[in-house]
Amino acid sequence: HFYVAIMAGGIGSRFWPYSRTDYPKQFLDILNTGKSLLQWTYERFVQFIPPENIYVVTHHQYADMVAKQLPELAKDNIVKEPSRKNTAPCIAYISHKIHQKDPKACMICAPADHLIMDSTSFISVCLNALLFVQKHSALLTLGIKPTRPDTGYGYIQYETLQAADNVYPVKTFTEKPDLELAKTFIASGDFLWNAGIFVWNSKTIIAAFKKYLAEIEEMFEANLEAFNTPAEKEVMERIYSQCTNISIDYGIMEKADNVYVIPANFGWSDLGTWASAYENLEKDYLENAVQGKNVMVIDATNNMVRAPHDKLVVLQGLDDFIVVDTSDVLLICKRQNEQQIKEYVAEVKRHK
Ligand code: GDD
Ligand code: MG
Repeated sequence: HFYVAIMAGGIGSRFWPYSRTDYPKQFLDILNTGKSLLQWTYERFVQFIPPENIYVVTHHQYADMVAKQLPELAKDNIVKEPSRKNTAPCIAYISHKIHQKDPKACMICAPADHLIMDSTSFISVCLNALLFVQKHSALLTLGIKPTRPDTGYGYIQYETLQAADNVYPVKTFTEKPDLELAKTFIASGDFLWNAGIFVWNSKTIIAAFKKYLAEIEEMFEANLEAFNTPAEKEVMERIYSQCTNISIDYGIMEKADNVYVIPANFGWSDLGTWASAYENLEKDYLENAVQGKNVMVIDATNNMVRAPHDKLVVLQGLDDFIVVDTSDVLLICKRQNEQQIKEYVAEVKRHK
């Protein structure tokens, strides 16, 4: 009864210009490992979940890319969304699909774009979580010990008394707090980052939708008979056009009272920005992380350089920059300003 839904519909705009709307970061090999983030994610799960129970949910635009990168995945296990409505509609859709197939399903909903160093520990945490939700009506998430007041994450405050082996009831869940609040959370010491990897049984997540996102839930519930029929595509287009654009974190996790967490430590990184890539890449003696065979770095320090083309790139006297060359865009950006890359992308699109 164990299932996985890999959510692979995001755009990863902070990795621009390497990550593009038509080729987002989950399909890229950000760290030069020989495999894309999606391929690594699939590989981790297929070690303990039967392949026929692994689903990838993505925007229809990326379905071919998923099929190409995961040739062993059955076509029916690539679930296509007609538009981008964030993670709540995505989870509603796949949870109903899985529940229809197996009302006793226990499922993991996981992002496609994270780095996990210790997959053995990851697998044992996931199995522990699945066994817990097999018995409990819990919305379970994995928590990571925070290292900085990052405003891009959800923050979890949990009870000290455990409910089961390494599973703790959650007191509060705060999605993407502002910097002040994030600092308070870090200072208090009893918060974890939400890893964005959720585990529950299909019945419990559907009940949560009914309670907290009823308008989404009702639309799916009224159209269950269209699943696995030729009408599914059209029905989903209609549902998605009316669906609220909301993440599962804001829509359910912040509100629910049956949230639990497993504190985990498997070398997790949300490869969200160039800074996180820089952190995870090998550096030269001047702390430059260089990806590319034709790059000359002279008297330059602390740069993140990606220039994997034949063109020779010479950097002189440059400190603390991100330099990313692609066939049609060259980005040169102060490392401390990288959060603004998202805005440049929007600006570039406006001028096109
Ligand atoms: N199928 C599909 N459809 N997938 C989506 C969609 C969508 O509309 N939107 C996002 N995704 C995928 C992304 O590709 C990613 O793999 C995952 O869902 C999470 O979405 P993000 O947009 O990356 O979320 P986030 O990073 O801002 O926040 C979440 O993850 C953090 C940890 O990385 C939250 O769960 C936070 O609480 C958490 O701390
Ligand atoms: Mg993310």
